[in-house]
Amino acid sequence: MKLNKFLALTIALVCVAQLKAQNVNIIPEPFHVAKGNGNFQLPKSIAINAPTSANQVTDQIAIQLKTATGKTIYFSKNNASITLDIIKDEVLGNEGYTLNVNAAGVTISANTNAGLFYGWQTLQQILPAAIYAKTTQSNINWQIPYVSIIDKPRFGWRGMMLDVSRHFFSKGDVKIFIDDMARYKFNRFHWHLTDDQGWRIEIKSLPKLTSVGAWRAERKGKWMNITTPALNEPKTYGGFYTQEDIKEVVAYAKSKFIEVIPEVDVPGHSMAMNTAYPELSTTPNYPYQVNAGDEFMDWAGLNGHPTAMIDNSLDPSNEKVYEYLDKVFTEIAPLFPFEYIHMGGDENAKNNWEKSPNVQALMKKEGLKDQMEVQSYFVKRMQKIINSKGKKMMGWDEILQGGLTGDAAVMSWQGIKGGIEAAKQGHKVVMSPNDYNYIDYYQGELTAEGKVYRGLRMKTTYSFDPVPAGIDSNLILGNQANQWTEQLQTIRKVQYMNWPRSMAVAETSWSPANKKDWNKFVKKAEAHFEKLDAAVVGYAKSIYDPIVTTQLNTKGELILIMEGEMEGLDFYYTIDDQMPDNFSDKYTSPFVIPSDVLSVRIISYRDSKPIGKYLNIPIESLNKRATKVL
Ligand code: ACM
Repeated sequence: MKLNKFLALTIALVCVAQLKAQNVNIIPEPFHVAKGNGNFQLPKSIAINAPTSANQVTDQIAIQLKTATGKTIYFSKNNASITLDIIKDEVLGNEGYTLNVNAAGVTISANTNAGLFYGWQTLQQILPAAIYAKTTQSNINWQIPYVSIIDKPRFGWRGMMLDVSRHFFSKGDVKIFIDDMARYKFNRFHWHLTDDQGWRIEIKSLPKLTSVGAWRAERKGKWMNITTPALNEPKTYGGFYTQEDIKEVVAYAKSKFIEVIPEVDVPGHSMAMNTAYPELSTTPNYPYQVNAGDEFMDWAGLNGHPTAMIDNSLDPSNEKVYEYLDKVFTEIAPLFPFEYIHMGGDENAKNNWEKSPNVQALMKKEGLKDQMEVQSYFVKRMQKIINSKGKKMMGWDEILQGGLTGDAAVMSWQGIKGGIEAAKQGHKVVMSPNDYNYIDYYQGELTAEGKVYRGLRMKTTYSFDPVPAGIDSNLILGNQANQWTEQLQTIRKVQYMNWPRSMAVAETSWSPANKKDWNKFVKKAEAHFEKLDAAVVGYAKSIYDPIVTTQLNTKGELILIMEGEMEGLDFYYTIDDQMPDNFSDKYTSPFVIPSDVLSVRIISYRDSKPIGKYLNIPIESLNKRATKVL
């Protein structure tokens, strides 16, 4: 099929048919959508016509349809309500599809099963929300709106990362994370498997990595406000994945067309490894324990220069480190069919390296002029090991420190500058900038959400474009959201932080840049809340809450500003410690907060109904966030 012919056809369809508002809210926005006029009624029993080569997708469709509707699902070439077709189409590529719904039923066509799978994700989004239900619904009388869609992704890498070190998530939880990704056409699951707070993957030749490194003293409370455990305190919190677990999760992800990229974060973030094998650090006599969330690092000099009060780095001058990591990657490589292995490389404190006579001797021997070049030496040794296992290496942007060579790819997290520099050097790049894609940052009003590093509203996440001006777009593999779990003990909390913000990342990663439209997107995201409810997925409703900022004017007065993320919201507030409602003052423009005020209380309404969280913001917080206007 030629794109032009298709477009002409769909445009004709739109012109002839009188457009009627339909419930078509697809995220990520497809390449092209033409709504028709009418609906296809899902019959009492549903025939599916598909080639046997598409069984991987057909089976999932049949199971979900059966689960949610209870209808009879059968396979037949005649009178099929749903037809899956493998075709040959240059335009659609490896992951594209077309979806047509008309009086004859539903047809999804694609070059590949992945394309069919994405067509199925889109079809679910135009079915009633209950298609996502895990139990059979009663009174099924479903109509599917007529529509013609042609769709394909902008980027081949559409990633989400889950940190399973700071808190351990069972393989069942990880599968839930993967299910949630698949709905929004993500295709790379980055599994952050090791860190200071736990080593989570079984390495049979180094058993202490999990028998010791996967366990820490149990603590609840605020991260980095945790009391340091006594050395003899039982280490009861943690867990790890056996190699069989890993294979099961990788196969599960594959069934949803998601590749898994494992991360072993070295040479920094290695407190768990050092606890298992202290001889790998430059402070081998230190009485290590796996970090329980207590503070051990001074981050003041991030950008490569944090200071570790407890040494959480591996010793780059110790050959045993490379021997051990060779064993680690020897066992990891066959478990993960994907072409890349991630070696971390971020936030490595160099203060203990600086003090080490052995590291100084290494510098002399190798002609390394500073600690950045020592980092580069270590990274190149990792690259050699990873390449020797038939894999390519990826790392956080600090792997650029001191020089990077070969086919290493860079994941840009400290903004986009690392990505730009890497691309200029010809390295492939995945964009995951913290100022747009760090979905661990609180997403609504600080005083309601609790502080995790900093805030990030969905509107800001949505505004990101992964291809910086002047950079060869072929080098930008794609875009990724990162979920760090310092404050997230359960998968439900992870979901709350993920959604709906990751929908914004999904749309940036999949949709053509010129199809992005915030006002349209945020309404679609809201329409997806009922889909998430049906799928029993946690999510935040921060889009209803005002973005509250303050400024100090030239007279030193505190000015309060409220801004909505979406249109149509009214914000009512009090400044006299009373509960607000829609008879309180309505925010219309920035105002001065009188000096005697203790707190500002706010609630949002839409169509005269309360819709947002009740916010109670203490004056101290409003003072603290004030920017000066001169
Ligand atoms: C990172 O956030 N340290 C990659």
